Amino acid sequence: MAAGRYKPVVTTFIILILACQIWSGAAYNNQQSKWLTKHMISNHGTSRPVGHRADRHLQETTRATGKYGLRASLVNEDHKLHSRYNLSSMERVKHGAEKSRARAWSLESKARAATFYGTSGAGRKTLQVAEPPSYEAPVEATPGSYSMSISIGTPPQKFIAIADTGSDLVWIQCAACTECFQQSSPRFEPTNSSTYKNLGCSTECTALGSNEIQCTPQCTYSYQYGDQSNTAGDFAQDTVSLAIHNETTSILIPGFNFGCGLQNNGTFTDTDGIVGLARGPVSFPSQIAPYLNNATKFSYCLVDKQSESTVTSPIIFGEDAVPANLSAVLYTPVMTPYDVSMVPFYYVNLQGIAVGGTNLRIPASAFEVDANGNGGTIFDSGTTYTALTDDAYTAVENEYSALLMDYTPVNLFQETGLSLCYDITGLTAVKAPTLVFQFENADFDLPFDNFMVMMGDTAGNTYMCLALMGQTGMNIFGNTQQQNFQVLYEEDVLKIGWLPLDCTTL
Ligand SMILES: *[C@@H]1O[C@H](CO)[C@@H](O)[C@H](O)[C@H]1NC(C)=O
Ligand SMILES: *[C@@H]1O[C@H](CO)[C@@H](O)[C@H](O)[C@H]1NC(C)=O
Ligand SMILES: *[C@@H]1O[C@H](CO)[C@@H](O)[C@H](O)[C@H]1NC(C)=O
Ligand SMILES: *[C@@H]1O[C@H](CO)[C@@H](O)[C@H](O)[C@H]1NC(C)=O
Ligand SMILES: *[C@@H]1O[C@H](CO)[C@@H](O)[C@H](O)[C@H]1NC(C)=O
Ligand SMILES: *[C@@H]1O[C@H](CO)[C@@H](O)[C@H](O)[C@H]1NC(C)=O
Repeated sequence: MAAGRYKPVVTTFIILILACQIWSGAAYNNQQSKWLTKHMISNHGTSRPVGHRADRHLQETTRATGKYGLRASLVNEDHKLHSRYNLSSMERVKHGAEKSRARAWSLESKARAATFYGTSGAGRKTLQVAEPPSYEAPVEATPGSYSMSISIGTPPQKFIAIADTGSDLVWIQCAACTECFQQSSPRFEPTNSSTYKNLGCSTECTALGSNEIQCTPQCTYSYQYGDQSNTAGDFAQDTVSLAIHNETTSILIPGFNFGCGLQNNGTFTDTDGIVGLARGPVSFPSQIAPYLNNATKFSYCLVDKQSESTVTSPIIFGEDAVPANLSAVLYTPVMTPYDVSMVPFYYVNLQGIAVGGTNLRIPASAFEVDANGNGGTIFDSGTTYTALTDDAYTAVENEYSALLMDYTPVNLFQETGLSLCYDITGLTAVKAPTLVFQFENADFDLPFDNFMVMMGDTAGNTYMCLALMGQTGMNIFGNTQQQNFQVLYEEDVLKIGWLPLDCTTL
């Protein structure tokens, strides 16, 4: 796997007490004009202290939703960051953009380092690892944005870990770690668990992929996220318990394979480890599937980022992940250009992008995995703003730039990390042409809030920016674009589906 060489950059946050803009209102879709209108009510002068928000609003409730389902809650990391650093809305946007940029490179480098099956399935090549671009490292390199709770061991020890669709391994920091990050709960203590066992050179030991596993003679792993973060330790087995109904009833999953992290480098702040939700045999959904009627499926519904930090996003595993009203779900096939144990991403086939009802002229090469295995398009919960390859991004930006002539463009790249921004100070409503991602068999029709981000500065000015980024490499359909949709990952039938939803109703 790619070893990232990064210039370590210490970014200092200026702690400010800010008058927050409170946005409210709803976007509605005017079918005739294909334009979306958003009514904004801005409370200029209303100040809301943001620092009093509790730092850890981690909801640990897990309950079964039916016979073959399991439900948990995802908590957005940004809320915690916000309260820790008192970030302004603009700083949060910049943080999201920097994190997305770092993650785009990290995910891309993982694919580059892997063996490509070829678009025809015939050729196999090992690709060269690209040099990382020189951008400033983000404050938090944590490869994911949402956390969930997981209990490991007998008796169970409980942890909060990042839920990540961009990686497959489940790992938790262990008590004997020699390189450790700070965590608020006690670390996992294997010697306190009667069911813990290290794996020898068994088949389970090879499940993670040869780049990451060694038998020495214990099974050890080394896993790199590319963005400064990495973890190494014992690849082990223990019982995972998933609470159902209430804290007293659990489903026990014996022999769950996971990493006991002993050398953990990177800024895994405010977490105890990572729950890999990607594809492949060691991922969390794959390993719990036998206990959920073999349904390797999950779905989440990410709440609007503007919502209060106490609001969590539901995630459902198993058959119950599939919405009852199937006719409302749009599906696109999941592609497999690589061995999933090497590159566990959810690849999809993006075919085009339409702005305001017009299909943009974007070469197919901007979306496809090329003959060398570079590029392509993935779904990812851990990327804040969708990253598009430069050809695709430029086409989208040019089209918005040409259509949004009523607004005053302003260069806020330095402040936000996003390149198309407008000053909308004093306006009570703004509108923007619709944005549609045309995936194979299904269009993802984005509501206003899923592609325009609004923010205020301390001087009382308000801005909106196109919440997409240009990037060499692959296209990554990120979590801002997925908010207020139920997004369904069905690895067992190789499909991803979505339907618009008020997440609080799920
Ligand atoms: C954030 O602001 C609040 C009040 O405005 C303050 O009490 C708190 O210490 C600040 N948090 C940090 C991390 O500086
Ligand atoms: C492990 O067990 C010991 C002895 O019962 C206890 O003191 C310690 O707190 C436990 N550690 C964890 C992480 O549970
Ligand atoms: C937990 O759920 C189980 C099964 O539904 C039930 O029998 C038990 O009474 C519940 N316990 C509590 C404390 O609610
Ligand atoms: C963590 O960083 C240190 C110093 O940069 C390095 O020596 C060590 O090998 C790293 N650990 C892992 C697991 O990569
Ligand atoms: C799940 O799949 C395994 C392996 O194919 C099979 O042995 C088992 O019976 C299946 N379980 C259920 C509940 O369908
Ligand atoms: C199911 O979804 C379809 C398409 O969105 C909709 O027309 C229909 O009313 C829905 N049915 C129910 C029972 O919600």
